[in-house]
Amino acid sequence: MAHVEKRQASVPAPLEWEYAPAPEARDIVQIRDRYGLFIGGEEVEPRSGEWFTSISPSSEEQLFEVAQAGKEDVGLAVSAARDAFVNGWSEIAPAERAKYLFRIARILQERSREFAVAESLDGGKPIRESRDVDLPLAAAHFFYYAGWADKLEYAFPQRDPKPVGVAAQIIPWNFPLLMLAWKIAPALACGNTVVLKPAETTPLTAMLFTDVCRQAELPPGVVNVVTGDGATGAHLVKSEGIDKLAFTGSTEVGKLIQRELAGTGVKLTLELGGKAANIVFDDAALDQAVEGIVNGIYFNQGHVCCAGSRLLVQESIYEPLIDKLKRRLSTLRVGDPLDKNTDVGAINSKAQLERIRELVASGEEEGAEIYQPPCRLPERGYWFVPTLFTNVAQSYRIAQEEIFGPVLSVLTFRTPEEAVEKANNTAYGLSAGIWTEKGSRILWMVERMRAGVVWANTFNRFDPSSPFGGYKESGFGREGGRHGLEPYLTFE
Ligand code: NAI
Ligand code: MG
Repeated sequence: MAHVEKRQASVPAPLEWEYAPAPEARDIVQIRDRYGLFIGGEEVEPRSGEWFTSISPSSEEQLFEVAQAGKEDVGLAVSAARDAFVNGWSEIAPAERAKYLFRIARILQERSREFAVAESLDGGKPIRESRDVDLPLAAAHFFYYAGWADKLEYAFPQRDPKPVGVAAQIIPWNFPLLMLAWKIAPALACGNTVVLKPAETTPLTAMLFTDVCRQAELPPGVVNVVTGDGATGAHLVKSEGIDKLAFTGSTEVGKLIQRELAGTGVKLTLELGGKAANIVFDDAALDQAVEGIVNGIYFNQGHVCCAGSRLLVQESIYEPLIDKLKRRLSTLRVGDPLDKNTDVGAINSKAQLERIRELVASGEEEGAEIYQPPCRLPERGYWFVPTLFTNVAQSYRIAQEEIFGPVLSVLTFRTPEEAVEKANNTAYGLSAGIWTEKGSRILWMVERMRAGVVWANTFNRFDPSSPFGGYKESGFGREGGRHGLEPYLTFE
């Protein structure tokens, strides 16, 4: 622990408690030196001959090497998925298919500590979150979709649902295993086979997952994993022989993919960025709202597509709310992701840290007022102090662009109409939050908000039975729930 960042710490910090370190044991994960590609049920060396290193963003320590799949490798993975689809997987009894998914879910539960530590090591998120959110939810997705496997004809009556074929899936680094589960569980439940490309900074849990597939005796080729960067992703998008592509990541890459696939007949779903409004009315329970605001933007270092990154506060409660919020910010513990007391972990990569710094600098230049609590940051690794901007105009970049970091922009409003207008004044439309005691106001707001998910008196709540997805530049298609089956099926 080293330098102390102090900027405008105008609100007195509450009594600071010294916590003894409470590190989770890291040796529960056996990390190998190298991981190859998972193709046709076997781990193979990449034909490309290329490898790259995955580091831990909290220490910059090199953790392992992983294959950089080239065009030929991706082609082999797609062929393996096709073979597995044609030779059995699409035809086995749906109730049998469900058994594999139930098995995977149970194994994830059994190995949850190991996976949680791996996720925090490779990606930097606090163990409290990987343990209590990512892992339980990933298992829950497999349980949930296992239940649908033999009920598809009831989910879509008179429509004769059939699997699409080979599903290519490209996922980001903010919830590596959870995004894998969101993608793989519905695909398999519907009888498809999969080629998955994890993000380049966080491939570890996907590689451990290939071991879960073996343990569950999943037939070879049903799940294939090709690691690599955006170039590998681009090969997968351009592969002949994919029937469906599911992508979660930046709007920029989403647009590239949409352009590439236009007119090919490949089914596409895109889950892209967001700039959610978290709206607090003057009748809201303020202390609860403060917890919701903190959870909305500082959860997972703000690396959340549905993060509540724009706080809209009704003018009459502006001062008490901001005071409470600043006080609460000063209690957040930033540091070692493997420490069970840590609230805010490491920024996922150097590139992401630079993106955050650039946008924060733009906020200061454009005239917003910055608040950062006194905070001790570790010397090595990538870190960013939880940050709050007040005096933000709607035109500022920090009010328009996705920062994807622990940075909140505060705006105000007077009437519900103005709140709706400001909330919808964005190119995105993924999520929103409303804090009020009035049920009728919640319903009035929900009808007018262009957001795929609207939380009321809570934020960042996820459940496998609830559909999730966006409007406008946040993408299209839904994941989760019965709706999440549809992109993986074709109909008569
Ligand atoms: P990205 O969109 O480049 O990465 C997401 C995934 O797409 C990764 O697996 C990556 O390897 C792959 N990819 C990159 N280029 C590709 C291409 N041309 N074809 C196919 N696949 C490709 O996102 P990046 O650069 O990591 O983050 C940039 C910004 O995107 C973040 O600051 C954040 O604002 C946003 N983002 C949003 C996410 C979300 O959950 N909606 C997740 C990650 C990033
Ligand atoms: Mg890593």
